[in-house]
Amino acid sequence: MRIVLLGPQGAGKGTQAQRISRETGAKHISTGDLVRAEIKSGSELGQSIKDYNDRGDLVPDEIIIEMMKPYLDEADSWILDGFPRNESQAEALDKMLTEIDAELDAAVALEAPDELLVERLSGRRTSEATGNIYHVEYDPPPEDSEEDPGPFVQREDDTEESIRRRLEVYHEQTEPLKGYYADRDILAQVDATQGISEVTDDILESVEKSP
Ligand code: AP5
Repeated sequence: MRIVLLGPQGAGKGTQAQRISRETGAKHISTGDLVRAEIKSGSELGQSIKDYNDRGDLVPDEIIIEMMKPYLDEADSWILDGFPRNESQAEALDKMLTEIDAELDAAVALEAPDELLVERLSGRRTSEATGNIYHVEYDPPPEDSEEDPGPFVQREDDTEESIRRRLEVYHEQTEPLKGYYADRDILAQVDATQGISEVTDDILESVEKSP
């Protein structure tokens, strides 16, 4: 399985990629996680990309492409979460796939209206121990769990201002990629307003059906 998850912030790309990865063994590659890890490391690169992340702007293409490149070749089966986000990244992905003689099976777009996304992102909590994603109401963090002891924290870029900016960037630059993949007949659209398990089922079904 080699799939790209498209969709606005809060549609559930990270949530679904974690679940599908657990279920199928496919590797979850999240460029957002790579960006946050680099920032947390305190490296020079991390410092140079922190402002983009905090504002909700895209990190420059050449940086993000170099960051994620090594991971593509690491596994035969993967789910890309947060990449590509514009046409130039999509073209770079095509080039990297040609280099490793691989093809995309599907691009799955998670569809949900902006109003719902702001509510989901404001209630998001991420485990510092495992990176697992939760929601205070829809998918509460476990209490007293050895598997995931937490702490469960809010992401620094989950401020209302940054969320609005990320959605703007999504509609301007990432949403047009649906056309890019529809032209190749590998686009699947999934209703992401459903419950978390229903969305997972629909994604897996759409990937099975893909040519
Ligand atoms: P990134 O980490 O990718 O953040 P994002 O794009 O803002 O996406 P999110 O993680 O916010 O949304 P999600 O769809 O994964 O939602 P989630 O599953 O958590 O990127 C961060 C930054 O890194 C960017 O702003 C940029 O600066 C940089 N960056 C990353 N990739 C880049 C690239 N390719 N190029 C340039 N820059 C890049 O779900 C959200 C909440 O909703 C959770 O609480 C979850 O529990 C809940 N939820 C999920 N599904 C459901 C459901 N069905 N029902 C109820 N609740 C649900």
